[in-house]
Amino acid sequence: MYLKSALQTSHDLLAKSVHPGDTVVDATAGNGHDTLFLAQLVGHHGHVYSFDIQKKAIQATRALLENHHVETPVSLINTGHENADHYVKEPLAAAIFNLGYLPGADHQLATTAQTTVIAMQKLLANLRRHGVLLLVVYVGHHGSQQEQQAVLNFVTRLPQTDFHVMQYQFINQINHPPMLIAIEKR
Ligand SMILES: C[S@@+](CC[C@H](N)C(=O)[O-])C[C@H]1O[C@@H](n2cnc3c(N)ncnc32)[C@H](O)[C@@H]1O
Repeated sequence: MYLKSALQTSHDLLAKSVHPGDTVVDATAGNGHDTLFLAQLVGHHGHVYSFDIQKKAIQATRALLENHHVETPVSLINTGHENADHYVKEPLAAAIFNLGYLPGADHQLATTAQTTVIAMQKLLANLRRHGVLLLVVYVGHHGSQQEQQAVLNFVTRLPQTDFHVMQYQFINQINHPPMLIAIEKR
């Protein structure tokens, strides 16, 4: 199949826009797959900041990095991404959000409309030129419709002079396929 999923496409965009030595953010560490991918892209001269509100997500991410013998400096931060500005000061090549809940964990601990938008505002302010902010947006769980709507309201109002904004999604699938929102700083 030539048409890739939202998740695969998010990784393709990261692979294009992130280079060795870059600083990047995983806004939702979860089981660590995006953090690992980012760490491999930026290498040992780069830096990954990885946020999650759940201790078990931070632990799972740390274990995944250790299993892969990652040498990249990775800051695993057990707080909400809405606090990213307290930690991230450098210009960013990329930030990725994989919204929703940790598979197999409490669905109540999912990302929320308000905190996601606050985090996006803060991280967009740190994007370097041609840096990308990506969101893989899931619907179908409690609160997800409001979150998707809040994200869309926010990104469709970003000034065209400052950002390119795209939406990518399969539109004939019955089981709520995730949507990718991709934002590039001009
Ligand atoms: C879909 S999972 C992320 C999957 C992850 N990117 C991976 O590769 O395995 C969503 C994660 O967001 C976390 N989360 C929820 N609210 C958050 C917040 N305000 N800040 C940071 N993480 C949050 C959840 O705890 C959950 O682990």
